[in-house]
Amino acid sequence: MWSLKAVTPALGGLFLIPDLAFAQSDSGSGAVSFPDPTGVSTEYASTTFDYSAASTTLANDDFSDERLAFLWNQVGPIATGPVTTTVEATPEPSAYSDPAAGFHPYIPSYFSNLSGYSLPEGFAWGVASSAYQIEGAANAEGKGPSIWDFLSHRVVNQVADNTTGDVVGSHYFLYKQDIARLKGLGVPAFSFSISWPRIFPFGKGPINEEAVQHYDDVMAELAQQELKIAPVLFHWDTPLALFNEYGAWSDRQIVDDFFNYATFIIQRYDHLVEEWFTINEPQYCNWQYSYYPFGTYLPLYNNATQGAKARFTCGHYTLLAHAKVAKWYHEEFKGRGRITFKNSGNYFEANSTSEADAVSVQRNYDFVLGWFNHGVWNDGDYPQVLKDTLGDILPTLTDDEKALIAGSCDFFAIDPYTSYYAFGIEDFDSCVSNTSHPGFPECAGSTQLAPDGFPAGPSADPGASWLYDTPTGVRRFLNVITKELFPAVPDIQVTEFGFAEPFESELTSLQTILWDLRRTDYYQGYLDNILAAIAYDGVNVTGAWGWAIFDNFEWGSGVSTRFGLQHVNYTDLTRTPKASFYSFIKWFEDHGAGASGSEPANSTYRLMH
Ligand SMILES: *[C@@H]1O[C@H](CO)[C@@H](O)[C@H](O)[C@H]1NC(C)=O
Ligand SMILES: *[C@@H]1O[C@H](CO)[C@@H](O)[C@H](O)[C@H]1NC(C)=O
Ligand SMILES: *[C@@H]1O[C@H](CO)[C@@H](O)[C@H](O)[C@H]1NC(C)=O
Ligand SMILES: *[C@@H]1O[C@H](CO)[C@@H](O)[C@H](O)[C@H]1NC(C)=O
Ligand SMILES: *[C@@H]1O[C@H](CO)[C@@H](O)[C@H](O)[C@H]1NC(C)=O
Ligand SMILES: *[C@@H]1O[C@H](CO)[C@@H](O)[C@H](O)[C@H]1NC(C)=O
Ligand SMILES: *[C@@H]1O[C@H](CO)[C@@H](O)[C@H](O)[C@H]1NC(C)=O
Ligand SMILES: *[C@@H]1O[C@H](CO)[C@@H](O)[C@H](O)[C@H]1NC(C)=O
Repeated sequence: MWSLKAVTPALGGLFLIPDLAFAQSDSGSGAVSFPDPTGVSTEYASTTFDYSAASTTLANDDFSDERLAFLWNQVGPIATGPVTTTVEATPEPSAYSDPAAGFHPYIPSYFSNLSGYSLPEGFAWGVASSAYQIEGAANAEGKGPSIWDFLSHRVVNQVADNTTGDVVGSHYFLYKQDIARLKGLGVPAFSFSISWPRIFPFGKGPINEEAVQHYDDVMAELAQQELKIAPVLFHWDTPLALFNEYGAWSDRQIVDDFFNYATFIIQRYDHLVEEWFTINEPQYCNWQYSYYPFGTYLPLYNNATQGAKARFTCGHYTLLAHAKVAKWYHEEFKGRGRITFKNSGNYFEANSTSEADAVSVQRNYDFVLGWFNHGVWNDGDYPQVLKDTLGDILPTLTDDEKALIAGSCDFFAIDPYTSYYAFGIEDFDSCVSNTSHPGFPECAGSTQLAPDGFPAGPSADPGASWLYDTPTGVRRFLNVITKELFPAVPDIQVTEFGFAEPFESELTSLQTILWDLRRTDYYQGYLDNILAAIAYDGVNVTGAWGWAIFDNFEWGSGVSTRFGLQHVNYTDLTRTPKASFYSFIKWFEDHGAGASGSEPANSTYRLMH
């Protein structure tokens, strides 16, 4: 006979479970009886549960170690890599390899007539990265989890190769060598993002001293090596606690929490910074935020379910968060530098001369770039076409909010990785009035096949299936942005561009990996076209940043899709510059923008209007 072991519940006395006893003795017709367990165990403890009777809960203003542990339990066990503590740099070699010293020259320029042109004085260039993609050390030194710790660990099929950012390049511990190598190679600047949940493990509340110490060290190291820095305050790693509490970017509270975080960072480091980026690619609300598993893995707030509602609510508070910080930066704080956000956006060319294709080009721009930039460079409001199409789905901006947004960027930052052909869709009229139409709200087609059906350029790794190498598109795009879409823009920077060599992670021999021909060609072609936009078209391009400093975690594709200018060996964390990196650096040397400390270029730069 088994017996329930009596326990003492918090508020009651000794008791047995009465319903079980009743069920067993009930002999009425249709009665169901329940057999006693037999076998391994004959004793069970029991009690009653009532969470509302708890004397303590882990409230959102509980900033204790216990609550932090609770947040990490939500994510699950975190892996550690071969390096778990900060490593001092060892001397870099006095000379690096030269890929063209072998039998294969660098990729030649597409514009032999550009050889006489130098970049304008003060042109900003370097390599870019983001915290979650390169730092690793996911739960080290008091960091709180971000949404990406959670997604990569908990959400099935969120990351195609089931990898996480737990370890990746472990830049958090290896930053000294990473910085020393940039210096040694002659790269003058580094753009990286700061991790919000490192500084504020709960997204708000107390600051994590160890994280501040860490970023102080990183900044000091960069300053010592005379590398310029262009920090990004937010690159998608929203503190998980803010999703639990109010749904993060689906709620207005995020504006003040971001402001609280951003203003702390800016006040601490502004003396070292010339250009700040508030937000990396607010357009991520489209293809990331709006696909987060609200209502299943994550609580649902503000009815911001997956899809258009989440997407435009996220965009709304993201834009306001940026604008609030930017206005504060100039008007109250009187910062010494410039501030903007980085745009995701690609070039669209009409597939044909038809009116429908022209409309499609414009709608593709409006729903990506216009959404965030129309207001900044005009009256602070969303483009009319978004209002007309979206109706109630698009939040309304008040006059005060429009005033905040207008003029909140000092320059335009674009990440113009690739190009598309735009075409009008057949049922356009029913699409724009039907929120259930699969093409809603853009109702604008696009393809990476040229009108004759051939691919628009060489394709990247299948994990970056959206990426084709389309160098002539970037020149046209820089013209379109500054002359047609947003003529008020004073200057533009290419804040990311780069290429994922196809199937690179399947190669096992470093010898095979290092001569990355397609990536080298991509950089050569894009850089030539950026310079052509300056030299031949008079576009005021003031910077270009290669993505990425080394191989990293490519979001939904994981670490298998490699964008690095340096190879990362994920077994021992060794980094090795690829041919593309040498070629990238040489291009800047050839065009008069050497490393920091080198002789200023004899600029033959002139505009040919
Ligand atoms: C420079 O060369 C390119 C590519 O050959 C050509 O398209 C362009 O017209 C030339 N530009 C000038 C100003 O000579
Ligand atoms: C990733 O994990 C999911 C769920 O466990 C599994 O179905 C899938 O096959 C895994 N993918 C790879 C590439 O291992
Ligand atoms: C969410 O949707 C429900 C049902 O449509 C509505 O009653 C409620 O007011 C909505 N809540 C918010 C915060 O919009
Ligand atoms: C809206 O689009 C959906 C999905 O294509 C379709 O099933 C539905 O019939 C459309 N409604 C109208 C009114 O056209
Ligand atoms: C693009 O234009 C070509 C040539 O006019 C045409 O054959 C093709 O169908 C068009 N593509 C799309 C997707 O409309
Ligand atoms: C380019 O932009 C910078 C920064 O806004 C400005 O100082 C410079 O005068 C501009 N150059 C040209 C040629 O317009
Ligand atoms: C990565 O490092 C491991 C351990 O040092 C080594 O066995 C392996 O060959 C390296 N892989 C590549 C691609 O170099
Ligand atoms: C720059 O180079 C040109 C062409 O070689 C030369 O004529 C000119 O004197 C140089 N200017 C300076 C300031 O060194």
